[in-house]
Amino acid sequence: MPEKDKYYVTTPIYYVNDKPHIGHAYTTILGDVLARYSRLLEIPTFFLTGTDEHGQKVFEAARRHQIEPQEQCDRTVVRFQELWRKLEITHDDFIRTTETRHVKVVQKILADLYARDQIYAADYEGWYCVGCERFFTEKDLLEGKCPECGRGVDQIVERNYFFRMSQYRDWLIEYIESHPEFIQPAHRRQETLGFLRSPLNDLCISRPKSRMSWGIELPFDRDYVTYVWFDALVNYISAVGYLADDARFARWWPASCHLIGKDILTTHTVYWPTMLKAMGLPLPRTVFAHGWWLVGRDKMSKSLGNVVNPMDMAANYGVDPFRYFLMAEMTLGQDASFTEDAFFNRYNADLANDLGNLASRVTRMIERNLEGVLPGAAPRSEAEAELISATLGAVAAMRENLVAMRIDRGLSEAMAAVREGNRYFEQNAPWKLARNGDQEELRRVLYHAAECLRIVSGLLYPVMPGKMAELRSSLGLSDHEIAPHIDKLAHWGAERPPVSVKPLAALFPRIDVAKALAESAAEPAVADSAKAAAPKAQAKTKAATTVEGVIVEYADFTKIQLRTARITAAERIEGADRLLRLQIDIGDEARQIVAGIAAFYQPQELVGRTVIVVANLKPARIRGVESRGMLLAAKQDDGSLRLLTVDGETAPGTPVG
Ligand code: MSP
Repeated sequence: MPEKDKYYVTTPIYYVNDKPHIGHAYTTILGDVLARYSRLLEIPTFFLTGTDEHGQKVFEAARRHQIEPQEQCDRTVVRFQELWRKLEITHDDFIRTTETRHVKVVQKILADLYARDQIYAADYEGWYCVGCERFFTEKDLLEGKCPECGRGVDQIVERNYFFRMSQYRDWLIEYIESHPEFIQPAHRRQETLGFLRSPLNDLCISRPKSRMSWGIELPFDRDYVTYVWFDALVNYISAVGYLADDARFARWWPASCHLIGKDILTTHTVYWPTMLKAMGLPLPRTVFAHGWWLVGRDKMSKSLGNVVNPMDMAANYGVDPFRYFLMAEMTLGQDASFTEDAFFNRYNADLANDLGNLASRVTRMIERNLEGVLPGAAPRSEAEAELISATLGAVAAMRENLVAMRIDRGLSEAMAAVREGNRYFEQNAPWKLARNGDQEELRRVLYHAAECLRIVSGLLYPVMPGKMAELRSSLGLSDHEIAPHIDKLAHWGAERPPVSVKPLAALFPRIDVAKALAESAAEPAVADSAKAAAPKAQAKTKAATTVEGVIVEYADFTKIQLRTARITAAERIEGADRLLRLQIDIGDEARQIVAGIAAFYQPQELVGRTVIVVANLKPARIRGVESRGMLLAAKQDDGSLRLLTVDGETAPGTPVG
């Protein structure tokens, strides 16, 4: 954050087709941490987040839940807002793309671009799957068939509207090359330049309502809605008053930093700059793409069932340790791996052993030996030299690392200062000074140890606001000093009146790793691939259930993903009397499965029913027909079958367990 006059930072706006996961939480916590550091540096700051509420994904989610799209948005947006409250996110605004303030701006931009011939109508050719009601390009198809359901597709020529993006290609290449700060990190800049080596097409910015009606209506053609990205990207300017409040817009635009995940690089570094250019607006200073959180070594996905729920993490391990782990563990720009093992290790090493330990030792000794009063000043000697240099060095390092977007490095310097604090404590052994009645020396050592804590707690405050506020208040800082300011942090030993210190027993109680792993194995808050192998811990929780002599560990059981599915079509398979071919809707995808139930159910009585399927069964070919999953049924003594189903209305894809 090199600018001094302002810092405007944004997160992507998240789709409201599903509840938030650790990936969403990560980008938003990152934005929050940067915004809080910027405020600490006394730079006027504006932090924006929000939700992307139009388009196919949200439309389909609504259809799956059999509700109106707006209802889908209204129900899901609160899950994001609740999570941000829980995670102590301090955004200055939350924009929803269904809000009038946004819709109006998108329509004004479209009308203007259309009037200036930056948008034109033309025919779009592609392939359409009637069953899935989806449009695919030639390269999306799998052996000429629909990539979703495997059925035949029709070639369609459809009238649409296009933005003249292609004409900006040369300008964009030139801009990216002459503004190295625009796309970061550098390897992402190369990725975009690589993309721009091929010819750039014009961008199709409309969807006919007959196919997908959930979006912002085009101001010049009521039969169409706006393509979701052309609508979503505009949030970054509509939220700060574009075409509505000129002074506010001039105050904040251009943005200092758009934080994004690497998955949405092209939209932010090709679509968005060309859109802004066409509107005659300056580009954001930086688009910063971070890597992915993997779970263990796997990509996180609903179908793998390894999605980490940030609400559970915060509830189980605390908001601040969760925020700290995410910030300390990921080197910005690269992928990082989430495992409970890594979380517990980092927590115990950095927070419980180093920081928590120093905080409780210092505050307790002040309470016991100085009647709870921390002196306002103390002389400084050679003994403090390293402590002061490590602590003030950490402040300077954090400033530099923030500019380089290396928060992990900044944090490790802060932790090095904490370790120096513990070393100083050991070396100067205040307990011996207390025993010998050397009050003056004792006051000196405790004063400087507390000074290290005061500065470090300020430095860590943007990452762990709750716990650091607790620590700062226990060190006797007044309410208005809890949120730190840079001038106080960059200064050792500012004279102030003596203050009362409240002892802190355990700021970060140590986690018993074996016990915690055993508990989490019994109650899965995180996916199996994130769990560490803990044979001893798991042995303790051995499942008591015995089924004909077979005992299954709970962790093994959770590997089987059971989900609800709605049967959308059923037919007999020629030459196979017992088998039915079923098409099912499993929430996030359509699948085909083969079931040996033809003797017990007529195809037509199955359509529309909700059943339970094993979703992660290895795909197989049964009598030459592909089957991806398995139905569950109860087999009675007489050999007849009864399908397992659910007690009441349930959305397809709901996990069963
Ligand atoms: N709605 C679009 C963004 C429009 S911005 C004008 C979108 N939404 S999303 O809900 O899919 O969220 C995508 C963002 O979530 C990613 O860019 C990234 O910031 C974050 N993450 C989603 N999964 C992630 C991981 N596994 N790891 C880290 N972050 C990831 O795309």
